[in-house]
Amino acid sequence: MLMENLVSFVLQSFFPHLLLIILFTSPLTLASDPACQSTCGSLQIKFPFGTGYGCGSPRFQPYVTCKPGGDQLLLTTHTGSYPVSSISYTTSTITINPSDMSTCTSMHPCSSILGLDWTSPFQLGPSTFILVSCPPPTSSLTLKGTPICDPSYAFLCASIYTCPAVVSLGLPLFPPTNTCCVYSPGNLNNKGELDLHALKCDGYASVVSLGDYPTDPSQWVYGVALKYINGVLDNNIIETQCKACEMSGGVCGYAPPSNSFVCVCKNGYNTTMDCYNNYGDGQGVFLSTASLPTGDFPI
Ligand SMILES: *[C@@H]1O[C@H](CO)[C@@H](O)[C@H](O)[C@H]1NC(C)=O
Repeated sequence: MLMENLVSFVLQSFFPHLLLIILFTSPLTLASDPACQSTCGSLQIKFPFGTGYGCGSPRFQPYVTCKPGGDQLLLTTHTGSYPVSSISYTTSTITINPSDMSTCTSMHPCSSILGLDWTSPFQLGPSTFILVSCPPPTSSLTLKGTPICDPSYAFLCASIYTCPAVVSLGLPLFPPTNTCCVYSPGNLNNKGELDLHALKCDGYASVVSLGDYPTDPSQWVYGVALKYINGVLDNNIIETQCKACEMSGGVCGYAPPSNSFVCVCKNGYNTTMDCYNNYGDGQGVFLSTASLPTGDFPI
């Protein structure tokens, strides 16, 4: 108690404005940390994506959100949560990197099924699945009676089997390529799942780009590409409002329960217009009422 009084005395004597400064700056700090962020990790987050509840499009938000801490965007489906490694807004494609997907540097048995939700705006995009450690010969692997391996891409199997990591699948170095299968285009079954267990393969790699070195699997870009359908249910008015919001430095969001459009501005204000214009609609009273400490300021 004595110590606290002493500290308080010292603070008040020597730093009389400290408390006021703390009180005065905290609402500003809060206000400059808007509910919706425009980045998550290294990804730029724009409509229809959002970093959390109330951000982006209400059709996307249940499936895509920024992990608390703000460093990783995740796609969540009925089969799990998958890190999103890239977003292309021009081609409406995202790339996910499931943790049990194999790459040249790290191969592992695939423990789970990769599935998409039918109700979500996502569907399988243009990636090439390479199924590895399958029962030979893969030319006889079938789904519903149809062979699934594309022999014209067999060179991808030969390439990926040069990766020393194949031994983690229990394969010898340079294993016979008739245990590998290029499954492209990959299809999901009627549950929306890529079921490798049904194919009896131990693992899979998925390649979104062979880059400049088609025969060097350590240079390939791995991941599962997903297309998203934008604008089907979101009406054009929201698209137009959102463009104006993003142009003014804001982040598009929605206000539950009606899910009406809101533009979340950098200073913490929400508006139905854009951030150039965000003092006019009665929601911008945040700073002037509850949050300002009362009393005189030594300004
Ligand atoms: C602004 O909108 C976002 C997203 O809907 C919401 O999370 C946040 O609470 C709102 N902020 C204010 C100050 O109303």
